[in-house]
Amino acid sequence: MNKKIFQLDTKTLHQIQDALYETCGIHLTDTKQTMIQNRINVLLKDSICANIHSFDDLFCAIKNNPQIRQSFINNFTTNKTDLFRESYHFDDMLNRTLIPLLQNNESINIFCSASSSGEEPYSIAATCMYAKNIYQSHSTIKIIATDIDTNMLNLAKKGEYTLDLRLNKIPDWVTLDNYFDILKTTPHNTMYLRAKKSLKDMITFRQLNLFSKSYPFSNNEFDMIFCRNVLIYFKQSDQEKILAKLHNILKVGGTLYLGHSEDILGLSSQFDRLGNKIFIKNSESLMGIF
Ligand SMILES: C[S@@+](CC[C@H](N)C(=O)[O-])C[C@H]1O[C@@H](n2cnc3c(N)ncnc32)[C@H](O)[C@@H]1O
Repeated sequence: MNKKIFQLDTKTLHQIQDALYETCGIHLTDTKQTMIQNRINVLLKDSICANIHSFDDLFCAIKNNPQIRQSFINNFTTNKTDLFRESYHFDDMLNRTLIPLLQNNESINIFCSASSSGEEPYSIAATCMYAKNIYQSHSTIKIIATDIDTNMLNLAKKGEYTLDLRLNKIPDWVTLDNYFDILKTTPHNTMYLRAKKSLKDMITFRQLNLFSKSYPFSNNEFDMIFCRNVLIYFKQSDQEKILAKLHNILKVGGTLYLGHSEDILGLSSQFDRLGNKIFIKNSESLMGIF
């Protein structure tokens, strides 16, 4: 197989779509053919694919070689994220969810379930730190941040970001240098930031495939779950299975934050809807519908 110029035929295209779905649940339709072609080209140019000479070799490697399987997945994820993206969720944390927990000095557990390069969990950590200071609280706060993409997890652990303040609005209450070392600022309002150790210490980064059968957490473990802008990549039936697992690990009264174009689907009777894709768990049992 020529690794630089080759065309996918329909059968191979469907085999790639199936392999992606089976490994991580990402559902790509036939309209994404050009994108699939480009990403396969990038994968095959990687030195770990040096011994792959046909599509049969590739499918065999995806099945049997964990490094190539991971690289295949990493090539197909979409990782767009921002600091304080959909900032109304951080306002909701400040104005509602965190207050009783901090006032009672309760320990707080937060799950950030598709954390990409880490901007989301660092935004959560900064919000918690700010609120903890306001309430002079002794709460212990733990954030578990997961993603399937190992390249993103490595970036997240580094916590180094370029922030263009003309494109990425930061809430007024955020004083960036309380949470980030400002490495450089350009005259055009671009900042180079590194998350401070105090922020990093609140977060544990781990790999987790949301498509896996079960999650390594206990029932009712989390006070808040962020699952934003990832459900859109799955089929509706798989979104509902993921939502059911998240429902199990969220405490009754806990909050689920979804992305702007996502919804609670068939679980609407298990959650109260606050608006802005904010949902409160209202019951403990799912009637075995998924
Ligand atoms: C568009 S980003 C969203 C990042 C962040 N939640 C936000 O809203 O800014 C989607 C993330 O979901 C991750 N992802 C895709 N499929 C996944 C899966 N099966 N399990 C866990 N994470 C997955 C991707 O690697 C990517 O980092």
